[in-house]
Amino acid sequence: MATSPFSLLILLLLVVLVPALVAASAVQDPELVVKDVERSINASRRNLGFLSCGTGNPIDDCWRCDPNWEKNRQRLADCAIGFGKQAVGGRDGRIYVVTDSGDDNPVNPKPGTLRFAVIQDEPLWIIFARDMVIKLKEELIMNSFKTIDGRGASVHIAGGPCITIQYVSNIIIHGLHIHDCKQGGNANVRDSPTHYGWRTISDGDGVSIFGGSHIWVDHCSLSNCHDGLIDAIHGSTAITLSNNYFTHHDKVMLLGHSDTYTQDKNMQVTIAFNHFGEGLVQRMPRCRHGYFHVVNNDYTHWEMYAIGGSAAPTINSQGNRFLAPDNRFSKEVRALL
Ligand SMILES: *[C@@H]1O[C@H](CO)[C@@H](O)[C@H](O)[C@H]1NC(C)=O
Repeated sequence: MATSPFSLLILLLLVVLVPALVAASAVQDPELVVKDVERSINASRRNLGFLSCGTGNPIDDCWRCDPNWEKNRQRLADCAIGFGKQAVGGRDGRIYVVTDSGDDNPVNPKPGTLRFAVIQDEPLWIIFARDMVIKLKEELIMNSFKTIDGRGASVHIAGGPCITIQYVSNIIIHGLHIHDCKQGGNANVRDSPTHYGWRTISDGDGVSIFGGSHIWVDHCSLSNCHDGLIDAIHGSTAITLSNNYFTHHDKVMLLGHSDTYTQDKNMQVTIAFNHFGEGLVQRMPRCRHGYFHVVNNDYTHWEMYAIGGSAAPTINSQGNRFLAPDNRFSKEVRALL
């Protein structure tokens, strides 16, 4: 049977389109992103000098040397590296100032609260009028194209449920103290101006990423939550977790929920310049299926293991510092089959 040019064209379209539909946010060649990260680290190092304000950290050097950073807050959105580099957050929207630390009504949040800001449909760059501790009543369910920018204030999200990034994209979270996160749920919670829905019991993660893409979590401190400090599952991808300080927690970071959930082959995560500090036990991170670039992190404490994985993940570990505890079993590098 002769193949018509038309069916060839259909076949060609299928070959080109299907991978694009399946992995809308995953890149074809993750090694190119790795090289790009290396290049920006190298460039930052080259600019180090006696009179320069640089630190060799390309993310920080991108904005911290600007004395007017506070007037150019949205510039931060262009400072990410790695797989989450394209996350624009609220770069193209208004600045929204949180003035009210309350969370009395998760279905009809008051203007001025953090919850009111994050559920909006429009892009917003969210900042804080003053130092505050926000004890959420339910998970903070974010809508797409938001930045939560804690710079210039001391902002704690603590003592209640914490942040959920579910089926949305383009989120930047910077400079928050996220700790003592609890389970929430069995309640209605608003996730957009026109919709709220019933939430079952939540995991109690610090930041829970579920089917999310283009996510960047930078310069946050995270500790002591009910489940993971940052977990990314269910086909989440295009993520960078950088400059964070993790302490006092058992299961630090789960990337990929189960060995059988093969959609997580699209998961691509950069983990860079984080400090894994005191009181941590395991999963820094624990990886499944995808591609994980773990670069220039500082591991100073772990009780069970630092980096682990299953279901054939690719873990590219580069330039990390491991200060092993004084215990023979914590010093092994091994493959568990
Ligand atoms: C970055 O610098 C290192 C050390 O000089 C070098 O080996 C590496 O090839 C550089 N990477 C890129 C992408 O330029």
